Amino acid sequence: MIALRGRRIVLAVSGSIAAYKAVQIASDLFKAGALVDTILTAGALQFIQPLSFRAITHRLVASDLWDPHHPSGVLHVDLADFAEALLIAPATAHTLARLALGLADDLLGCVALSTHAPLVLAPAMESRMWLHPATQQHLAALRERGATIVEPGTGHLASGASGIGRMAEPATILGHLAAVLGRGGDLAGRHVVVTAGGTREPIDPVRYISNRSSGKQGYAIAEAARDRGARVTLITSAGLPPPPAVTAIPVESAEEMLAAVATACREADVLVMAAAVADYRVAAPAPEKIKKQDERLTLDLVKNPDILASVRGDFVRVGFAAETENLLANAAEKLRAKGLDLIVANDVSASDAGFAVDTNRVVFLSPDGVESLPLLSKREVADRILDRVVERLRARHA
Ligand code: C5P
Repeated sequence: MIALRGRRIVLAVSGSIAAYKAVQIASDLFKAGALVDTILTAGALQFIQPLSFRAITHRLVASDLWDPHHPSGVLHVDLADFAEALLIAPATAHTLARLALGLADDLLGCVALSTHAPLVLAPAMESRMWLHPATQQHLAALRERGATIVEPGTGHLASGASGIGRMAEPATILGHLAAVLGRGGDLAGRHVVVTAGGTREPIDPVRYISNRSSGKQGYAIAEAARDRGARVTLITSAGLPPPPAVTAIPVESAEEMLAAVATACREADVLVMAAAVADYRVAAPAPEKIKKQDERLTLDLVKNPDILASVRGDFVRVGFAAETENLLANAAEKLRAKGLDLIVANDVSASDAGFAVDTNRVVFLSPDGVESLPLLSKREVADRILDRVVERLRARHA
């Protein structure tokens, strides 16, 4: 995860059986290039060993506020100063209560009071503890003070019961952490609207016409914009799980996408249309499933509205041109016809670029000229697009 590379994270683990998942979080953070110091509360030590973290992070793992061996003698201040973010995962009901009240009777309590770093909390507990008014009041107090709460999910709990209280998955927690670390990035204060996926045009209640777009490039743009501080609305017809800390609006057809884009763009700074919108839809979808009867079946198609061309306003507009021939000429014509700031052209007949794969080879066309990019990950392509977007936003305000 690019957003976490080189970032200084204090990972605090409190006493829940979900503590074992914190080892995965530490590992994911380390692999993403973050520097991770770990705090284990007394409760966490009942579930897990310091060595589990030290072997993964190769850095400080501390539990004792009174550690006589710490060189500076002010371990809590050192950790507070080190942290760019304080991530508490799992956060127990007791930990939430202690944080809300500002108790400083252990290392975590002292670090939480001493640090200026933003707080990201991933609660884990039994449903009744989560739903208890005391816990909810503590959460409200922490939210009010700016903490990010990564909501627990519903499912199997340690008690054997099923309900709300399962700690969010490590990938979800890291997504929220990346969003928090991205505050103050070059898209801070901006609203970026991104579309993704191939639209689905109904034939009847069970069938549709669609295309091979996976939505991966659009999702990568949404995540990259989030990690650069933007508020992101992702309007998606792809079946992928929504990225954390992004507002995802699921749609199916081009007409639904148009309505959602028009609403979102009333207050947008940027629109990136990465979706592969179907050019045609079935004129009159059948109200019931079409029966297999005749040898031939003819579908009457009508042209869909062009979303990019019809949604205009004072925001930066980026389009995609997926082509199998005459890439540059077709893309240049779309740039002009749709009045875009940038068009991202890709040859979707290549096997290592375009639909469904994680890499893309694209050419940027803008009113300023043409730039061919090498084969890059879709995330890198996303960041290059956003570099151009940031340039355009600055030029507009200059
Ligand atoms: O004209 P073409 O479909 O190739 O243009 C591609 C670009 O226009 C993409 O950014 C796509 O999301 C957008 N588009 C649109 N509405 C359509 C068709 C395409 O916004 N009906």
